[in-house]
Amino acid sequence: MCGIVGYVGYREAYPVLVKGLHRLEYRGYDSAGVALICNDGGLNVYKSKGKVAELERYAETQDVSGTIGIAHTRWATHGEPNDVNAHPHFSESERLAIIHNGIVENYALLKAALIENGYTFKSCTDTEVLVQLIEYVQTTNNCTLLEAVQMALRQVVGAYAIAIIEKGDPDRIIAARKSSPLVVGLGNDEYFLASDATPIVEYTNKVVYINDGEIAVIERHKPLRVVTLDNEESTLDVKKLRMSISQLEKGGYPHFMLKEIFEQPKTIVDCIRGRINVEADNVILSGVIDNRERFLRAKRIIIVACGTSWHAALIGEYLIEEWCRIPVEVEYASEFRYRNPVISPDDIVIAISQSGETADTLAAVELAKSRGAFIFGICNVVGSSIPRATDSGAYIHVGPEIGVASTKAFTGQVTVLTMLALTLARAKGSIEQPLYLQMLGELVRLPDLLEDVLRLNARIEDLSKIFTYTKNFLYLGRGYNYPAALEGALKLKEISYIHAEGYPAAEMKHGPIALIDSEIPVVVIATTDSIYEKTVSNIQEIKARGGKVLAIVTSGDQTVRNIADYVLEVPTVAEPLSPIVSAIPLQLLAYYIAVNKGRDVDQPRNLAKSVTVE
Ligand code: G6P
Repeated sequence: MCGIVGYVGYREAYPVLVKGLHRLEYRGYDSAGVALICNDGGLNVYKSKGKVAELERYAETQDVSGTIGIAHTRWATHGEPNDVNAHPHFSESERLAIIHNGIVENYALLKAALIENGYTFKSCTDTEVLVQLIEYVQTTNNCTLLEAVQMALRQVVGAYAIAIIEKGDPDRIIAARKSSPLVVGLGNDEYFLASDATPIVEYTNKVVYINDGEIAVIERHKPLRVVTLDNEESTLDVKKLRMSISQLEKGGYPHFMLKEIFEQPKTIVDCIRGRINVEADNVILSGVIDNRERFLRAKRIIIVACGTSWHAALIGEYLIEEWCRIPVEVEYASEFRYRNPVISPDDIVIAISQSGETADTLAAVELAKSRGAFIFGICNVVGSSIPRATDSGAYIHVGPEIGVASTKAFTGQVTVLTMLALTLARAKGSIEQPLYLQMLGELVRLPDLLEDVLRLNARIEDLSKIFTYTKNFLYLGRGYNYPAALEGALKLKEISYIHAEGYPAAEMKHGPIALIDSEIPVVVIATTDSIYEKTVSNIQEIKARGGKVLAIVTSGDQTVRNIADYVLEVPTVAEPLSPIVSAIPLQLLAYYIAVNKGRDVDQPRNLAKSVTVE
């Protein structure tokens, strides 16, 4: 959470910084701020509660000149979202300004010591403690800013990506990272700094990802230097970005979320490209093939993830157990990392994360690694922390996902999990050839099927109006579509703030059935599959109690049409791939209900796209 941006070069820094903040707003939007060193060496800080647009309004009347600066968009952890707690934070003498993404765990201890030494605090943030500590160390040791940062950070427990500028030094930004992402863009005689590459890509495609424990010394007219806390020089590994600027814009859609829902036929093509060879009847996920022996030795697979990625993981469990006959456990990363799980070197741990930065998932990876498991990552953001911490992996290649509610990443994750299960099943010889070929064919057909599903758009927009003022929803599904029901409920909660629960349809009678009345709509995924009849019975149970049913059915279905109140028809697809198809009408339903309610769809309250704190 929180997005940080920095610039030093020949351009006016403020427009670059503000544009960068807009790109990073998905990481948090409680407050925004900027620090600039103006031409006479003065250090100006402007900040404001609310979104970046508020900061821009406020800054209209301020002096925002200067060719060096840092900026921040906040997702509040310590201290309520207000102007005072907004970053950047000044040090006591107002000589240093800092921005920070992460959490300083021992901030209370450090703060008490600083107060004893006469320091005063304006905000409730852990970040202000950091900048005060750095100033204190610099003053008492009479050292350079870099040395002070190195010494101060050795005392800090927690996670950080920070950037600091110093009054009177219009040429230098010092930035450091531990467990929170940081990337430096290398332009021609200019540098960019950000939490991810999205603010950088329109200026340069050359970047250096800063590693944990490293400090970047970014100086005007000088080569970039990266050193460790112990002042050892690191070798620069310059990477080339493959992202394009059009991927970061709405392209005519009113919201990123709608754009991303509509991109899915194409993102599935990108996801399977080069991995399915129709002529050779082959699915090849190289991350699995390259580690064939290791995968074949696996006695168990554990999948760790959070949020939407956890729902994809549940589908992965069904796929892998069905085709590979390897036991799979799915864990919330946040629980896994804190409960002393049994992990053996024969286990494979799959970490699923769109951002590749989720703190709990990353910590789960580190834990599993320390116990000798082989780690496979399924991520979207190239070069992010999780893929860099894993032994092997597969990117989902769905392009930047900006809407806070995940859509195309979910279908990409399930597609990769399908390819992983097929690759492994074939390597193990645990899948019959006709079934393997059928699934391969279904994967290839998937983009066209998704185009068909998207034709439901207008109908769902109409239907959504019925539910604008509904207070509670229930989502039911069975088998592969149980996780899809969970995901549908999550989408609605996230962006419309309507309470929604996802449940396995058969479990309804063990509790949620008590909720059924004419007020609560029940969305049932009732596509034609091996347990279709059972799902139909569940719908009957709801109708018998006066409930309203919106059913997702397979095209041509008459049985459910006769009993449900509303139906949405989706094309026929093999059962294991059906959650990918059913997810889309549920995404659209949540989207339109949220729009009808006037919600901020792309940036729902209290959420952030990438949760880089515990
Ligand atoms: C946040 C986002 C969710 C996302 C979850 C996991 O809660 O709002 O949309 O599913 O994090 O994120 P990851 O990047 O690890 O998939």
